[in-house]
Amino acid sequence: MSEPVHPRRLAGRVAVVTGASRGFGAAAAAAIAAEGAHLVLVARTVGGLEETDDAVRRAGGSATLVPLDLKESDRIDQLGAALHERFGKVDMLVAAAGALGTLTPVGHIRPEHWADVLAVNLTANWRLIRSLDPLLRLSDAGRAVFVSCAEAGGRDAYWAGYAVSKGGLETLARLYAAELATTSVKANIFDPGPMRTGLRAAAFPGEKADAVRAPEEAARAMLPMLLPAYTAQGERVAFA
Ligand SMILES: NC(=O)c1ccc[n+]([C@@H]2O[C@H](COP(=O)([O-])OP(=O)(O)OC[C@H]3O[C@@H](n4cnc5c(N)ncnc54)[C@H](OP(=O)(O)O)[C@@H]3O)[C@@H](O)[C@H]2O)c1
Repeated sequence: MSEPVHPRRLAGRVAVVTGASRGFGAAAAAAIAAEGAHLVLVARTVGGLEETDDAVRRAGGSATLVPLDLKESDRIDQLGAALHERFGKVDMLVAAAGALGTLTPVGHIRPEHWADVLAVNLTANWRLIRSLDPLLRLSDAGRAVFVSCAEAGGRDAYWAGYAVSKGGLETLARLYAAELATTSVKANIFDPGPMRTGLRAAAFPGEKADAVRAPEEAARAMLPMLLPAYTAQGERVAFA
């Protein structure tokens, strides 16, 4: 069990984490649970959500499991309504769900693969903002963190689908943050750097497992961005 060395800093708060069935989202959920928040775990894979639920319990927390395909926008709207009814607010959104798409030349990307990666990495996050923004505003210190990647800058050939979707996500997050200026909600971007996850293994199949850090390490680095005391707005934090 991971015990915080200080009083639980997120006790009584509600955190929505997407991509919570594995990888960074699962690690973030466990780290948040250790600080006392109730978790709302979103992903498609029920078995993965149940494993994260176990990790949340080991950390001394509790969770609500929401099996959901983020490409189903109506269900994102329904999630907001259900959370309003059950909790009356949302204190944290960690938008960690991500899809790699296909690594291939721009002109070779299949239309359905392009649509898929844009839907998960960009459009779903806009729909989440649309659905959860009113609930974040009902918190005394709503905190939204959008998980991006160095590839958002258009760094490497063959990464267009993923890179364009993450670049769009960063622009979306910055504009959302600008619109929050007169509220108590803060929205920021977190780049966790390379992590040992399924997404990374799909992109770099030959890489040794211990060549990059565990997602738990990056999750710990993101945690301060969720605290009420964190006052940055529209910033991009990269875990070097
Ligand atoms: N790994 C890295 O090196 C790295 C580096 C920089 C940034 N990132 C970013 O970190 C975040 C987490 O990635 P990861 O490495 O932890 O990847 P991962 O292990 O592949 O996990 C991806 C998560 O996204 C969820 N997801 C994907 N498509 C979904 C859909 N249609 N509906 C609902 N959930 C969906 C998956 O859940 P289900 O499949 O169960 O739905 C899973 O929980 C991503 O945003 C990624 O871009 C990763």
